[in-house]
Amino acid sequence: MRLIMIDEYNDKTMQLARPIYDRHRRVLLAAGRTIHPKYLERLRQMDIKYLFVDDLISEGITMEELMDMPSWMDATEIVQKAFEDVKANKPLNIREMQKLVVRLVDEVSRRKILIIIPSTSLSVELRPYAHAVNVALLSLQIGKKLRLNSLQMRDLAMGALLHDIGKAVKGDEHHALKGFEYLRRNREISLLSAHVAYQHHETFNGEGAPRKIRHKEIHQYAQICGIANRFENLISEEGVPPHEAMEALMAKSNIDFAQELVHLFINTIPSYPPGTKVKMSDGREAIVTKIMNHMQRPYIRYLSTNEEISLTEKPNLLIISVIHDKNKE
Ligand SMILES: [Fe+2]
Repeated sequence: MRLIMIDEYNDKTMQLARPIYDRHRRVLLAAGRTIHPKYLERLRQMDIKYLFVDDLISEGITMEELMDMPSWMDATEIVQKAFEDVKANKPLNIREMQKLVVRLVDEVSRRKILIIIPSTSLSVELRPYAHAVNVALLSLQIGKKLRLNSLQMRDLAMGALLHDIGKAVKGDEHHALKGFEYLRRNREISLLSAHVAYQHHETFNGEGAPRKIRHKEIHQYAQICGIANRFENLISEEGVPPHEAMEALMAKSNIDFAQELVHLFINTIPSYPPGTKVKMSDGREAIVTKIMNHMQRPYIRYLSTNEEISLTEKPNLLIISVIHDKNKE
């Protein structure tokens, strides 16, 4: 299995590996099917940017580094419900949110690597919520690197899941402020989590929003959420591959985000997830098959010979670019 951009899809060689859901979480297209060109057009109109496919070159790649799709969808649904409740002036179902937080912390704690599923593999209506789940997962990966304890991890996750909750609150103020005001009134939500919502658009140099606070004035959790938020938007909305998204973040270190946090983050995310088609420094084409111990030195398999090698054992061999096969129709 591998993740492709929709314009790489080729119905002669690829089958869908994961179902495509509509906004009601009904299966639009089941796994195992090929996508008819007419249907592909419909998916494009829905602005779906990514597809999981099976094909010959990705044979044997399991992508077990991905969060399991049904539980990711469940998480997305819980966040959606929370936003809808707030919009409808109903009380937030805090128990459900707390249970979700525990599950996400557990998911990140027990895995060596966790790769997010881009929110733009879903229909537009579900994306803001899948985005929130992804931001929480990415934030937790940084939290784990910082060796936060489980209580701290939970506060971080709750803040990250609800960082944009202010968008569901009426009023003209900045959504970060509205989110903070909303969350801090809820006694079961830690003030730290509320501050994640409050400060996630502040930047290291003091040019962010809504208060233009800077450096150490911004709580570490909010900085973490800010990094995760930016990365998720690059990957999902802008369709930027992970290695470029990382470069974009590095370019913003000590401008938008504290450098040490950006560095930590980069060490938690593989630049080339399994299933990425790449060009190697020896001129040959390969596919990334798995990541074992070194985040930036995965295993690759040459397309021409099927020979699989570990890049940790070949220090001189480099990935020089990602191959993006535009399928012309
Ligand atoms: Fe936001």
